Amino acid sequence: MVTLVRHFAQPSMVLRDAFLDAQRDYASGDGAPDADGLTLADLTQGTLASYIDGTANGLFPRPGVRIGRPGAELWWVGPATEDGNGPEVVGRLSVRHDLVPALHNRGGHLWFSIRPSRRRQGLGTELLRAALPVAAGHGLDVVTLICAATNTAACRTIEAVDGELDRTDELGRRWYKLPTRP
Ligand SMILES: CC(C)(COP(=O)(O)OP(=O)(O)OC[C@H]1O[C@@H](n2cnc3c(N)ncnc32)[C@H](O)[C@@H]1OP(=O)(O)O)[C@@H](O)C(=O)NCCC(=O)NCCS
Repeated sequence: MVTLVRHFAQPSMVLRDAFLDAQRDYASGDGAPDADGLTLADLTQGTLASYIDGTANGLFPRPGVRIGRPGAELWWVGPATEDGNGPEVVGRLSVRHDLVPALHNRGGHLWFSIRPSRRRQGLGTELLRAALPVAAGHGLDVVTLICAATNTAACRTIEAVDGELDRTDELGRRWYKLPTRP
């Protein structure tokens, strides 16, 4: 029997259609794709292959991400089903090696998201738990996760994986610490 589980996958043009489907979902639910500021038009009019290649190989410059370190950008992928649906890009993980100030409003060491139509099904908790060994593999023993206190979904997801509240800063952001190894 084949066990069908969600898993992290490197960004790849093989998953192009599933990725674009997810980005349409983000655009309609959140107002924009979850793709480093790229619009749907950017993604569908020529930038997609270089964006995917750059993020997969760690060559796309991004705050806090050490250049040339592949595997810092991953898609959370659900399997194809027998009725012909999928595979589905359910969410996204970005690992950032250095906690530069630009990341204080953008999650901290990890950015994680679940596509809007699939939220509140336990998938964010599942993704974040699975992200910890990935972060450990990038040399991070403890990650700092930062979210606005008003982002209840993010705060509760971090707490669901035993993130420990370290402090709340003057801008109302919660700083959590989370060990990446048991
Ligand atoms: C944060 C996010 C990933 C959560 O994903 P999710 O799949 O909905 O999370 P889960 O279903 O695993 O829920 C985790 C917890 O958050 C709670 N939760 C989720 N959405 C919520 C909401 N809108 N309001 C209140 N609580 C919420 C759940 O009830 C659950 O709490 P519990 O463990 O006490 O029962 C998702 O909302 C998202 O992608 N947000 C936009 C990106 C973002 O803010 N990322 C955080 C970066 S720090």
